[in-house]
Amino acid sequence: MYRTHTCGCLRAGNVNETVILAGWVQKVRNLGAMTFIDLRDRYGLTQVVVEEHSPAEVRETAATLGREYVVQVTGRVVERSSKNPKMPTGDIEVAAERIVVLNEAQTPPFTIEEVSDGGDDLRMKYRYLDLRRPPLQRNMILRHKMAQEIRRFLDAEGFLEIETPYLVGSTPEGARDFVVPSRMNPNQFYALPQSPQTLKQLLMVAGYDRYFQIVRCFRDEDLRADRQPEFTQIDCEMSFVEQEDVLEIFERWAKHMFREVMGIEFAEPLRRMPWIEAMEKYGSDKPDLRFGMEFADLTDLARGHGFSVFDDAQYVVGFAAPGCACYTRKQIDALTDYVKRPQVGAKGLVWIRMEADGSVKSSVDKFYTPDEVRAMAVRCGAGAGDLVLVLCGPKFKALAQLCALRLEVAQQLGLRDPKRFAPLWIVDFPMFEWDDETQRFYAMHHPFTSPKPEDVQYLESDPGRVRANAYDFVCNGTEIGGGSIRIHDAALQARIFKALGFTPERAQEQFGFLMNAFKFGAPPHGGLAFGFDRLCSLFGGAESIRDYIAFPKNNAGRDVMLDAPSAIDRSQLDELRLSLVKPE
Ligand code: AMO
Repeated sequence: MYRTHTCGCLRAGNVNETVILAGWVQKVRNLGAMTFIDLRDRYGLTQVVVEEHSPAEVRETAATLGREYVVQVTGRVVERSSKNPKMPTGDIEVAAERIVVLNEAQTPPFTIEEVSDGGDDLRMKYRYLDLRRPPLQRNMILRHKMAQEIRRFLDAEGFLEIETPYLVGSTPEGARDFVVPSRMNPNQFYALPQSPQTLKQLLMVAGYDRYFQIVRCFRDEDLRADRQPEFTQIDCEMSFVEQEDVLEIFERWAKHMFREVMGIEFAEPLRRMPWIEAMEKYGSDKPDLRFGMEFADLTDLARGHGFSVFDDAQYVVGFAAPGCACYTRKQIDALTDYVKRPQVGAKGLVWIRMEADGSVKSSVDKFYTPDEVRAMAVRCGAGAGDLVLVLCGPKFKALAQLCALRLEVAQQLGLRDPKRFAPLWIVDFPMFEWDDETQRFYAMHHPFTSPKPEDVQYLESDPGRVRANAYDFVCNGTEIGGGSIRIHDAALQARIFKALGFTPERAQEQFGFLMNAFKFGAPPHGGLAFGFDRLCSLFGGAESIRDYIAFPKNNAGRDVMLDAPSAIDRSQLDELRLSLVKPE
């Protein structure tokens, strides 16, 4: 038997028991007469003590121990003379009677403790050492717990967990595909699925009316804190449902997760916000509702007063930053610099101070009377002591820029508290998104999303006006999940492909397998997928999803631990009939 207990479980009640522990040496403190060894495993830390009267062998072995040695300690649990209330095992220590070194260890490249001294890159390279640290262990445990709760809930609701293949055909979705060459089919490629979207729809055709899968998805896109090239979805699909049915069951699921994992109860129905309202009030289809600072359209008040920047703008929009009238010139300049950064892209920032004494001051006093300035501030909901911030430009561009500023101000005011959660549904998305560059419409969700029946009449005449039966689950400014009711009618699907600029031949070539399947009796169906990594980081209170993935990629899409991607042998290339072109 390697161990009788873990390093996290001994308490005062175990005093006088003889125990065997096994784990890693986190720290050795040699105080002359006494040596303390912190022994760690994933359950916790236990202090082992070696004293002058300990057996000579034990003292000798203790003197050789280094950080991260793997050891087995046999000893008696004793009450500590100076207890450590911060440690769950802090009431006791183990007086060593025998120490066996199970394995030596090189000195690790960084400290493996709650807070490490290692930089990001180093810790990524030695990920298996970083994973020994308690914060990452807590993250992995949280992820595990969440996966169990997901399965428990969905199983009880009659969902079947069905796996779908990773080697599939390339279908154009939002991002670029990762492709895999086929040896047995020369010059042909599999693609790794960006999601099992079409496969789960085929499962509906096959009659598996409630499907789910916790599934890896692959997308070759630029990475951000909440994006990885391979990530995990909680992918779900249901037959014989309308939007309301999907929202009902997954709202209950979300509340179940908050309750069971976080101990947070959401008694009220979650808010549902039409897409256009989210855009106009918060400049984003994933609004952070932990705080207010709603936007107001100031276009009519701002135009026509000789201030050419506003006069020439399509849209003028602002919000009130609570209690920020006291911001110094320097602070306001910093906000101006912030919106002018290329990532935000605004040309300038107009501000209005609502002073405590009732007067107003603004950066555009030359062009407006105090009453006109006040009217703008009041429309933004500003009161005495507030600072109004205003941007202008093409409508959706100005809204997006103001959204960035709203989040920045909230950050500065400490309003983005990771312990608070503001979940909601965004509904009534537009069906299509116009792209200026390619001069065509794209599906905002994907081409299988059904339009709202009442908007179908505009499919040809005014596609921009058509709304979709699509919905997103948003929390704290992050899109956690999204889905839609699908089209199950071949004629309507053909009209959508046409609106998206597909010829019937190209549609058949790319989606023929799905359209053909629909000829054999497709039930009405719909579903959604949640980003599991994002849900974990949301619950864990972290910005980056990386820390909730055991072996993530870095920002350049590399696994620095495995040193992947990497070159392959000539013989492998030959077998695949591939030749390489030197990069520029
Ligand atoms: P969508 O593309 O919106 O929908 O993806 C669903 C959810 O997956 C998460 N997600 C990501 N997480 C980490 N890294 C990424 N690169 C990444 N991309 C997406 C997000 C997102 O909300 N097939 C549809 C779903 C459906 O209609 O049923 C789909 O994939 O949290």
